[in-house]
Amino acid sequence: MASFSHLQHAAKRLEGKVALITGGARGLGECISKLFCKHGAKVLIADIRDQQGLAVQDAIGAQFATYVHCDVTKETDVENAVNITISKYQKLDIIVNNAMQIDEAKPSILENDVAEFERVLRVNLTGPFLGIKHAARVMIPAKKGSIINMGSVCSSIGGVATHAYTSSKHGLIGLTKNAAAELGNFGIRVNCLSPYFIANVAGKEFFKLDEEGCSNVYSNLKGVCLLEEDVAQAALYLASDESKYISGHNLAVDGGFTTINPIFGVFSQS
Ligand SMILES: NC(=O)c1ccc[n+]([C@@H]2O[C@H](COP(=O)([O-])OP(=O)(O)OC[C@H]3O[C@@H](n4cnc5c(N)ncnc54)[C@H](O)[C@@H]3O)[C@@H](O)[C@H]2O)c1
Repeated sequence: MASFSHLQHAAKRLEGKVALITGGARGLGECISKLFCKHGAKVLIADIRDQQGLAVQDAIGAQFATYVHCDVTKETDVENAVNITISKYQKLDIIVNNAMQIDEAKPSILENDVAEFERVLRVNLTGPFLGIKHAARVMIPAKKGSIINMGSVCSSIGGVATHAYTSSKHGLIGLTKNAAAELGNFGIRVNCLSPYFIANVAGKEFFKLDEEGCSNVYSNLKGVCLLEEDVAQAALYLASDESKYISGHNLAVDGGFTTINPIFGVFSQS
């Protein structure tokens, strides 16, 4: 009987928790929103795609998910999203800073436009800074919380995506470490989650790949393809109390891509 109740508890790993997920209107953010709700969380979906965000809210059910218009580059929007969460649920346990934009890949830095560079940095780095700041505002008095920043393999290696995207995702690691240092004083954990290429809308669009192209993308794990659900499961772990002593960490969900160089060595694949 005791083990059964343990299983019941384990089945819903975010029971009673409240999460704010930026960029939750589609892609990975949508997948995380759905998984978190499945595990008993109440979720606020913050995005600029109002129609898609409302559709996700309705698909999950308005008693579990609430869409809020929030441009993560605007402090008043982020402040408002956190305030709405508090007035609805009186607390915020988890924030997933997941919203992103990317610029078009150009063959030369000489063709890169500074306005485009700054646009990407604003969403991918300033956005999480504002998310952390306003989450911390309500998590500090509660003396607990889990902050998850969505990184990428581009958080730790170069050459995969654009200068702006790579810079923003590397910056996110620094922000994660610094915020973890400060907020650890209040029992708040701050981590980064860094996926490899996911064959979703954004992934296909950026790398200009069709289904067949996606299936040919290099993977260190032969025959295994990274899905949004796999990353959402890792986010679930970082959000839940199962990871209660993990902070300042960058959890790679990349099949070893960023730690293995297959070009030269005894297992060379070239
Ligand atoms: N797709 C991949 O291959 C891949 C790989 C590694 C990491 N990631 C990371 O995963 C996260 C989710 O990416 P995705 O693939 O789901 O992309 P996506 O484009 O499908 O989703 C990003 C979401 O962010 C929202 N957004 C953009 N600008 C915003 C703003 N200013 N304010 C609020 N919301 C805004 C978009 O409307 C969209 O709903 C990102 O942080 C991305 O860098 C993706």
